[in-house]
Amino acid sequence: MTSIGRRVVLFIAAGIAGAGCHGDGVATDYRRPSSLERGAVACVDPVAADVGGGVLRRGGNAVDAAVATALALAVTWPAAGNLGGGGFLLLHRASGEDVFLDFRETAPAGATETMYLDDAGRIDDHRASDGALAVGVPGSVRGLDEARRRYGTMPWRELVAPACALARDGFIVRRSLARSLANARDRLAAFPDSAAVYLHADGTPPREGDTLRLPSLASTLDTLARDGADAFYRGPLASAIVLATRRAGGCLSETDLDAYAPNWRVPVRGTYRGFHVVGAPLPSSGGTVLLETLNLLEGFDLRTWGRDDARTVHTMVEAMRLAYRDRARWLGDPDRGAAPPFDLTSKRHAEELRRGIRLDRATPSLDIAEGFDVVFEPEESHETTHLTVCDASGNVVSLTTTLNDSFGSAFVAGDTGVLLNNEMSDFDLKPGFTSTRGPIGTPPNRIAPGKRMLSSMAPTLVFGTDGREVVLALGSPGGRTIPNTVIEVIVNVVDFEMTPREAVDHGRFHHQWLPDRIVLEPHYLDEATREQLRGRGHVLRDGDGPQGDVHALARVGGRLVGVADSRIDGATAAP
Ligand code: DON
Repeated sequence: MTSIGRRVVLFIAAGIAGAGCHGDGVATDYRRPSSLERGAVACVDPVAADVGGGVLRRGGNAVDAAVATALALAVTWPAAGNLGGGGFLLLHRASGEDVFLDFRETAPAGATETMYLDDAGRIDDHRASDGALAVGVPGSVRGLDEARRRYGTMPWRELVAPACALARDGFIVRRSLARSLANARDRLAAFPDSAAVYLHADGTPPREGDTLRLPSLASTLDTLARDGADAFYRGPLASAIVLATRRAGGCLSETDLDAYAPNWRVPVRGTYRGFHVVGAPLPSSGGTVLLETLNLLEGFDLRTWGRDDARTVHTMVEAMRLAYRDRARWLGDPDRGAAPPFDLTSKRHAEELRRGIRLDRATPSLDIAEGFDVVFEPEESHETTHLTVCDASGNVVSLTTTLNDSFGSAFVAGDTGVLLNNEMSDFDLKPGFTSTRGPIGTPPNRIAPGKRMLSSMAPTLVFGTDGREVVLALGSPGGRTIPNTVIEVIVNVVDFEMTPREAVDHGRFHHQWLPDRIVLEPHYLDEATREQLRGRGHVLRDGDGPQGDVHALARVGGRLVGVADSRIDGATAAP
């Protein structure tokens, strides 16, 4: 068996509030490592993790447990868990096959390339982020049901039931939820139906320790449990969603909902120093950016330098810069013609690009902007969630789902209790406009009816050098930072032999080509190292807070253990 890290880590999930007996009545013993023999779930929320653990205990497989956990997160982690959003599911089957389900949102038929520009031709960030016009056609409900139909074993209604009970009976608001509700308060308050669901009558958000009941969402989940996933896409519930969005100025139609279909796709594959890596294909850039960066890094002996050495950080940044440049140039919906002219994930492409990397100085991003018409703009001054599940037979699921921003568009559709995404803002909003501040305007990711917006989500599986056993299953929220977060955890494990806990908890940084700067987690890297990076020409910024939260499974001593990120009070559960 392949193990990662040198040491066996005794997993202790710290700071888990409200753990215990929830929903379907399954108590979790957090002191026991989750093991492959028994199955395991890792996600952002202990109540949802328990739901997945309960499904495994009742004999469901990893897909059943992932679906039930994702549905429970739509209740207990409304910042990102959802019915009204989308996501990607990567599954390693016990038979050895790896499959990928794309249930990304699509642009409504009424969408146009310039729908988010104001009269002066500037991007109207507010319209692209808040309210009904920001909404893409949701994919989650059909996506989760499709995964279950093809690879699950349990009836849909049994997987919806725990989420339904949580919404109806209520659950205790944890610290992280209280914080995200407080942050989203003003956005939610702008929409009466959202305020009615997520705020008290006086407009204040629920606090830690309060019980949150979501009766309208419970009634929607009840309909889905009874009538099946299609009830979200046609019939009275679909009509209610469409009516509410149209009244609020959106362009979603009943035809859009009815026509929505998830897609099975072939995951991208590569190797990193002999480890096999399987990741997200387009319409997510996640797997491509991940593999291109890792291929570039293979040419450098990071291990000799040390993890937090300026040479290592510099080299990783230079690799990220190139991969994100390629992302901006070539990537978009593959069903709408986005196709790089050569394989960005090939070792050959990495060899060619690597020649341009200098160890002594940063490459200004504008020096590698051939083919772009970049507008110089002076510098100005999130939410998604990832879950991983394995079962006793060896199936492993890595699933990332999102509403895009925290609480998506902040718009709840009428009395359905369904919070809708603002995924439309993942498109390039102004054709032709690529700026040093970060917007991209290249053709592959421009808005078109029915098209999928480019994502950065990166549900990933890493296999041992024999390519057979999953040694790491991971992913993260964080928008464009996601591939870098995943890359850094992989590098921590492969190059620096950190234990999974160390690898997940280690400080993170991000570079995405434009803006041309490294964003560091606050307190990451000492001043001397920062100074060495500045000496090479890098601009450094402290980020607003943590970079992502990784909920992983990692093979230690022959078993897969759950590792929830210490950055947020996530949790693991076992059957
Ligand atoms: O698909 C994407 O890449 C984004 N919509 C994800 C947004 C996200 O991760 C925000 N979370 N923190």
